[in-house]
Amino acid sequence: MTRVLEVSALEGGYGSVQIIYGIDIHVDEGEFVTIIGPNGCGKSTFIKTIFGIATYYSGSILYRGMDVSGLRTDQLVNHGIAYVPQVDNVFPSLSVLENLQMGGNSLSQGVLAERMERSLEMFPDLRNREYDLAASLSGGERQMLAISRALISDPKFLLLDEPTAALSPLYQQQIIESIDSLRDRGITILIVEQNARLSLARSDRGYIISNGKVVHSGDAQHILTDPEIGEYFLGSTEDH
Ligand SMILES: Nc1ncnc2c1ncn2[C@@H]1O[C@H](COP(=O)(O)OP(=O)(O)OP(=O)(O)O)[C@@H](O)[C@H]1O
Ligand SMILES: [Mg+2]
Repeated sequence: MTRVLEVSALEGGYGSVQIIYGIDIHVDEGEFVTIIGPNGCGKSTFIKTIFGIATYYSGSILYRGMDVSGLRTDQLVNHGIAYVPQVDNVFPSLSVLENLQMGGNSLSQGVLAERMERSLEMFPDLRNREYDLAASLSGGERQMLAISRALISDPKFLLLDEPTAALSPLYQQQIIESIDSLRDRGITILIVEQNARLSLARSDRGYIISNGKVVHSGDAQHILTDPEIGEYFLGSTEDH
């Protein structure tokens, strides 16, 4: 089994403001791994540190055995990593098609057309909206577009930050299922989710972050059923 990502003792933050304090996580080929944790604990910062957006201080980030610690975002994309941000993940003033084109600026016309077609295959809802401005999309459609955009670079490893936040339960389900189906395309998934139960139900493993550190990790099923974890990190059992 190939280890896609191995993060060890990662420290990071924003300039001199440290947020991440020695995080160890790994993701193997074909896995779906979910990170959960309370608001403000550093989940987004962790993903951004991996992807070269927040400030990397120390520790190691290995991608398929290669040291990618501190690399620039464009270099990581060239290695096959893509990222769907939590906010501002589409250009509202551009159409759906233009948003997808922006995801593949450096590609030849032919390759770009093929990648756009393949991205749209996943989300038939977007097909009917190709010429509409992203600003006019519903929250769920916007997330679909953000994911489609990330796929234009033909990634093998996808980082997603709360793709179902603020969506209706129907959209939440649809988005998580679509993400899960990316595994059939050979894409390994690392996701941060506030809708922890929904995401963990599709996951192989999970990590819980609190105050910039991993406080628990294990089999997703175990996290879902451990009463102590449930009480603190999964919220009420009533809502699913
Ligand atoms: N650009 C920034 N500059 C300085 N501090 C920041 C910046 N962005 C976030 N922070 C701080 O970093 C800490 C962790 O934020 P982060 O966004 O990583 O949390 P999170 O776990 O993703 O939260 P949420 O569940 O609300 O998305 C917070 O205290 C936040 O205020
Ligand atoms: Mg966040």
